[in-house]
Amino acid sequence: MPGRDSGREKVLRAPSLRRRLVVQLLVLAAVLALVLSLAVQVGAGRASQATLDAVLGAAAQGMAEEMRAEEGGVVIDMQPATLSMLAAMGEERIFYRVDIGGLTVTGYGDLPLPGRLPTALTPVFYTVPFREAQIRVAAVARSLRVDGRAAPALVLLGQTREGQEAIAARLGLQAAALGLAVFLAAIPLALLVARSLTRPIDLLAEAVGRRGPRDLRPVRHPAPRELQPFVTALNSFIGRLRGTLSQTETFIAEAAHHIRTPLAVMRNEAELALRQSSEEDTRARLRGLIRSADDAARSAGQLLDHATVLYRADQADWAKLDLAAMTRAVAARLAPAAGMKDMDLVLTIPAVLTCEGDAVLIEAALRNILDNAIKYSPPDSVVEVSALAEGPMAVVTVADRGRGLGGTEPDRLLRRFRRGDNVGDVMGSGLGLTIVEEAAGAMGGTFRLRARQGGGACAEFCLPLA
Ligand SMILES: Nc1ncnc2c1ncn2[C@@H]1O[C@H](COP(=O)(O)OP(=O)(O)O)[C@@H](O)[C@H]1O
Ligand SMILES: [Mg+2]
Repeated sequence: MPGRDSGREKVLRAPSLRRRLVVQLLVLAAVLALVLSLAVQVGAGRASQATLDAVLGAAAQGMAEEMRAEEGGVVIDMQPATLSMLAAMGEERIFYRVDIGGLTVTGYGDLPLPGRLPTALTPVFYTVPFREAQIRVAAVARSLRVDGRAAPALVLLGQTREGQEAIAARLGLQAAALGLAVFLAAIPLALLVARSLTRPIDLLAEAVGRRGPRDLRPVRHPAPRELQPFVTALNSFIGRLRGTLSQTETFIAEAAHHIRTPLAVMRNEAELALRQSSEEDTRARLRGLIRSADDAARSAGQLLDHATVLYRADQADWAKLDLAAMTRAVAARLAPAAGMKDMDLVLTIPAVLTCEGDAVLIEAALRNILDNAIKYSPPDSVVEVSALAEGPMAVVTVADRGRGLGGTEPDRLLRRFRRGDNVGDVMGSGLGLTIVEEAAGAMGGTFRLRARQGGGACAEFCLPLA
């Protein structure tokens, strides 16, 4: 249907929710990964600095404790343990300076002093540039008695931190790799989250899309709270549409009904006149009139049937029914029409064949199929009616030896008011097969009409088995 397709194309496309969600989650993951790697880097740097400071401080304290005042001076005993402790920390250069009473007594006199002088043995740490390198210095103070006077002593012990910087750089790389790994792990997670979030939307769309074109029941699919307004609006729209449709169908049904009654009166009058008239000209006219009245009554009947089928298809209120019994009943009702043409209806039907559907729809469909078979068959021919279960379906087949489909594409004959080229003088409205197909479709079944081998037509009406 071109109309339907172009309607679908005109839907404005907004950016995909899922893609937007994935992008936003990934941006968030990237920021988190960056923060994480920075935190790891800074934290590890601080921790290694604290460890190295503790060792440096302990060494400076050791040196300060080894100082002894002796006759005429101070002895500084550099313990090998102190230096080996520092050597264990890597290939770093070490500088020291010992001040007593404000004078440098040994070491590098230009080693910068701390901004704030230490008290007692608690070391003060600071970083200063010295001899083309950044060095970390621990400063420890202590008080000595030299020649009976108190002399403040200050011990500075400095160390380059090249090894630590190398370790920090390596840690930085590892932290970046960790951040990257976190980000990569977030990609499938983001996809998964986006999928699970949009899943209810997909399910709802699928549930609505799966409905048949005539299914006008309200959408009862569970939808998340955010989608409720949409579902409510959709249901109210469906409700209004259903109201309009049923109004139209009621109108058709009433109109058909109101036409049929006066037509019947007209036909009766014409028949009476025909019986009383002896003039051949008038009789021929009256016969034409009766024929037209029949034709109109049949069309009105078909319209009524069609409206009923449309209405009941919307109700979608199915029950378990015995298709075998219904087929027998319809065949019995049409047997007189077949008898008038000396035709035989041969039934091959099981005792019971339970299917799911609506009695009125099935009856209308079977009546139209059989009516066609009888109508388009020559006198004295046989119409075979069979019913059987085939897979998940119950199938009623009506095969006749009539004039066949005359090469017309069967699908075209199913259209509304469409009659074949082979109809000749057989009366009809072209609505019969439309009714059959709509009834079958509404109940989840199918209908097929095809040319029969050896002449005639074969109609196949399928319904789901119960
Ligand atoms: N059993 C049949 N044999 C031959 N032609 C058929 C048969 N059933 C249907 N057709 C063709 O399909 C057309 C449509 O059928 P239908 O919708 O019942 O309309 P109508 O019977 O009122 O013409 C018919 O006009 C006829 O050409
Ligand atoms: Mg018909």
